[in-house]
Amino acid sequence: MNPIADLLSADAIYESLKAGMGAYTPDFELRYKAQLAAEINKLKKERNAVILGHNYMEPALFHTVPDFVGDSLYLSRVAAETDADIIVFCGVEFMAETAKILNPTKTVLIPSQKAGCSLAEGITAADVRKLKAQFPGVPVVTYVNTYADVKAETDICCTSGNAVAVVESLDSDMVIFLPDMYLAQNVARETGKTIIFPEQDGTVNGKADVIGWNARCIVHDKFTVEDIEAIRADHPDVKILAHPECRPEVVDASDFSGSTSQMIRFVEETDMPEYLLLTECSMGDNIMAANPEKNMLRLCSVRCPHMNQIQLQDTLDALRYTQYEVTVPEEIRVKAARSVQRMIEIG
Ligand code: 13P
Ligand code: SF4
Repeated sequence: MNPIADLLSADAIYESLKAGMGAYTPDFELRYKAQLAAEINKLKKERNAVILGHNYMEPALFHTVPDFVGDSLYLSRVAAETDADIIVFCGVEFMAETAKILNPTKTVLIPSQKAGCSLAEGITAADVRKLKAQFPGVPVVTYVNTYADVKAETDICCTSGNAVAVVESLDSDMVIFLPDMYLAQNVARETGKTIIFPEQDGTVNGKADVIGWNARCIVHDKFTVEDIEAIRADHPDVKILAHPECRPEVVDASDFSGSTSQMIRFVEETDMPEYLLLTECSMGDNIMAANPEKNMLRLCSVRCPHMNQIQLQDTLDALRYTQYEVTVPEEIRVKAARSVQRMIEIG
């Protein structure tokens, strides 16, 4: 629970933003954002709303209005337990949709309709049906970064925080793991399994323990081993953390790999001269604002254009105008809910 999320005074919010971000953010910007945050916190109370914020939100939003912040797994858990009437999801569409899948009677809002995800857009329900027809009876694991109709075709969901545990929980030598190509390769390696990918038309020629798919995250796809070598040449003591949506060779060349919250925890619990996160760059800013003594190297060009759609003004408008409401057809929701619930139960 974030204590700033209850503050109604713009001055008090400004003071807290200044303490974390004052060294590198102009004062008028902090005052403007504090004012927006105070209006959001007031409206949130009046409407019995809860705001969930993903770790990739920009620092002024991340450190003010969300009642809960975290990775996809944690936010799914919080969404499953909230008793608020309205859930405002400061994250991307598949995350808000997951909250709706778990809360059919609540109003779930996403502050921008442009917050998609290249992984979720990389696979359709028809693609999953085609794979299932080729491998009848083989359990299907899908990353939560998918839309509800894909989750509905699935036996169990996973996130980057529990993918290995989910695969290991299945009593099956073979598994279909969708849709992130690199996450599937990273999980296959960690569980000692072989992996194969379908042809362009979805046909799988051959057999392996894991049947993957070819979607990739446009953000994590950008990092290369050459980037890591160049950074280590200039910063020999740097600790490099890679999200498991990065290529396997990038994960190999890094010092740690984990979900967004696992990466944050690693930085907070260790004491290294410098850190570099191979993930959406707002996370480094968020860590610095909360831990000014941490020295974070930054790759500012690597922003998720989808996460970046969600700003304080959009969040205020979401509460003011009850926009944009997330809906999922009931027949799909019921099936998708089984896969999400099963994941939550595993941990
Ligand atoms: P986490 O589940 O690690 O928060 O990641 C979500 C995501 O979209 C990463 O790009
Ligand atoms: Fe999707 Fe990648 Fe953005 Fe995460 S960072 S929301 S996986 S596009």
